[in-house]
Amino acid sequence: AHVTGETAARIREAAAYITEKSGALKPRIGLILGSGLGVLADLIEDAVVLDYGDIPHFPVSTVEGHAGELLLGTVKGKPVLMMKGRFHGYEGYGPETVSFPVRVMKELGVQTLIVTNAAGGINENYQVGDLVILKDHLNLTGRNPLIGPNDNALGVRFPDMSEAYSKRLRTLAHRVAERQGLGLQEGVYVGLMGPSYETPAEIRMLRILGGDVVGMSTVPEVIAARHSGIEVLGFSCVSNMAAGMLDQPLSHAEVMETTERVKPKFLQLVLGIIEEMD
Ligand code: 6GU
Repeated sequence: AHVTGETAARIREAAAYITEKSGALKPRIGLILGSGLGVLADLIEDAVVLDYGDIPHFPVSTVEGHAGELLLGTVKGKPVLMMKGRFHGYEGYGPETVSFPVRVMKELGVQTLIVTNAAGGINENYQVGDLVILKDHLNLTGRNPLIGPNDNALGVRFPDMSEAYSKRLRTLAHRVAERQGLGLQEGVYVGLMGPSYETPAEIRMLRILGGDVVGMSTVPEVIAARHSGIEVLGFSCVSNMAAGMLDQPLSHAEVMETTERVKPKFLQLVLGIIEEMD
């Protein structure tokens, strides 16, 4: 299950299949679309759509609201690759499996990864529906996709994480948001395993630790991306406030409803950012 020479072969086989199906399109930008945010896939033009189940060695996702398709096409004339549906540790996948698609993206030539997720708001100044640009994360999953022998062809043994979320791309995103008159928070993402949501005591702890939003994804993919030398831009949509903050229970239905409501502005932002990227 670890990243070994065998993994390198699987990466190449998955990438070869994708190249065979998508031909001349050489994606430089990759996107991972979180819960309810698959609508971002509507942005893509002339898309080649591949079922995860048809890509060699690709895991297959199981959760409702995650379609499990890889789309290759153009956005604002730029070749992109989008993952509609991602893999989560709570489904039983190891972190190296969760981040396998990021390895494949690298093999295909992706240089920039845009990750999106629906997350719970911890910061008292946040509101449901806010968009948050990620400036850093806390890996509290207890796992890491790089555990095991290191394949030096994929990256270094001890990758630097001091700028996991690119300062350059964050600045670009703020500029685009400002131009669009769109409010954008900036915060720290706490990655947990789930699948149960947190208790109110855990949320108070995470706030003290410096967390602004909390979710069950993103961290393994970002670690693998940094290991691969891919530049990362991350966004959370605050789909609900975290446990104990409002006088109501948390529901996956609320998560989906909020992302549905926020999607037009999220779409515009991502479009604007891709337009500005080189
Ligand atoms: Cl409150 N917690 C976690 N772990 N994931 C979430 C969430 C909360 N809201 C959306 N996703």
